Amino acid sequence: MRNLNTQMDLIRQSATVAMADRILALKASGHKIIGLQVGDPDFGTHPAIAEAAFKAMQEGHTHYGPSTGTLELRKAIAAKLQRDEGVSYDPASEILVTHGGIHAYYTAMQAILNPGDDVLVPDPSWATHSNMAVMLRGNVIRIPAPADAERGFVPHFDSWLKALTPHTKVIVLNYPSNPTGAFPSREYLQKLQDFAKEHNLWIVSDEVYGSLYYEGKPTCAADFEGAKERTILVNSLSKSYAMTGWRVGFLAAPARVIQNALKAGQNSITCVAPFIQKAATFALTDPKIQEVTAEMRAAYSRRRNLVIRLAHELESEKVKVIPPQGAFYFFLDLRALNKSSVEMCEKILEEEGVGLVPGSAFGEQGEGFIRMTIAASEEDVEAGFRKIVKWAEGQ
Ligand SMILES: Cc1ncc(COP(=O)(O)O)c(C=O)c1O
Repeated sequence: MRNLNTQMDLIRQSATVAMADRILALKASGHKIIGLQVGDPDFGTHPAIAEAAFKAMQEGHTHYGPSTGTLELRKAIAAKLQRDEGVSYDPASEILVTHGGIHAYYTAMQAILNPGDDVLVPDPSWATHSNMAVMLRGNVIRIPAPADAERGFVPHFDSWLKALTPHTKVIVLNYPSNPTGAFPSREYLQKLQDFAKEHNLWIVSDEVYGSLYYEGKPTCAADFEGAKERTILVNSLSKSYAMTGWRVGFLAAPARVIQNALKAGQNSITCVAPFIQKAATFALTDPKIQEVTAEMRAAYSRRRNLVIRLAHELESEKVKVIPPQGAFYFFLDLRALNKSSVEMCEKILEEEGVGLVPGSAFGEQGEGFIRMTIAASEEDVEAGFRKIVKWAEGQ
């Protein structure tokens, strides 16, 4: 029999998906599970967005559309970037509409990466950041971003310098981070931009959680003088507008990157469904929808405060809580128990009925941690967190 693509042997099955499968099986056999494992808002997409899609379907936006995305949507994206991040992009040449943030990242990496290029990815980070680079035959170098009271899961700056080789091509950032919720200061990003400039590196910045922040606002990676020419922004409507299933996102980058990324988009998806692009345009531009997204952010903030309050009340030595600055996850530190993350998640699921994701799924630095989402009801977040602490204290 002919060989398969051996590069795929280097990719581990997604721990989040594996966990979701186990939870589904447990639920099917009648178990009550508190699901704090998913990275999907518990809010529904606002009905007016669905109506905009339905109307567009009825009006006949059901054929192929431009692979770049419609100009109407690219204009709405450019306006959003200007409004929320203070960065200007030309809708005609510097924006590409993609099939969610994951596809934006795919097209970005296709646009810039050659086999054997070094890709610097913080550890811990969302697995796709390194998996995609591996699939494209890049050489992934993990930059430790350990838990640190001062920096809170942002790499020590020297770690970037140490990793540099003549093959280094790209720095991958994701702030606020999945799984830690951390983001660095503006000064730190300025230093990183200077470093990228000096060594002629790309910065690919995944900002899908960019509008979900609680303490200060994260700085957009392109919001520095001269940064646009070496920065590629990955974003989507998934998390901020509760539109994960709609699969719509975008890339903002220099025109020559967009031209390459367009080839990757054209030859992988042709285009994002035009009626979905209509709905996305509506979501980005309708004032009422912006209010609704602000309300969702306020709800995440309440849940975040709830966990911080519970942590103070329960005073667990076993479960340490590092408050996230953004996104909708807590990366709970259970290293005091000296057990593997996978074992802990399995036990908590079996013994307490709480679904979580092992920290090791995000890299070596995540070992001993578990990721708990707050994209769930306040009742579930409270009950789930109490159960985690109860389980840990019983060890
Ligand atoms: C850091 C990060 N980037 C990108 C994505 C994917 O976003 P999308 O659903 O828009 O493809 C996720 C999803 O969990 C994520 O956590």
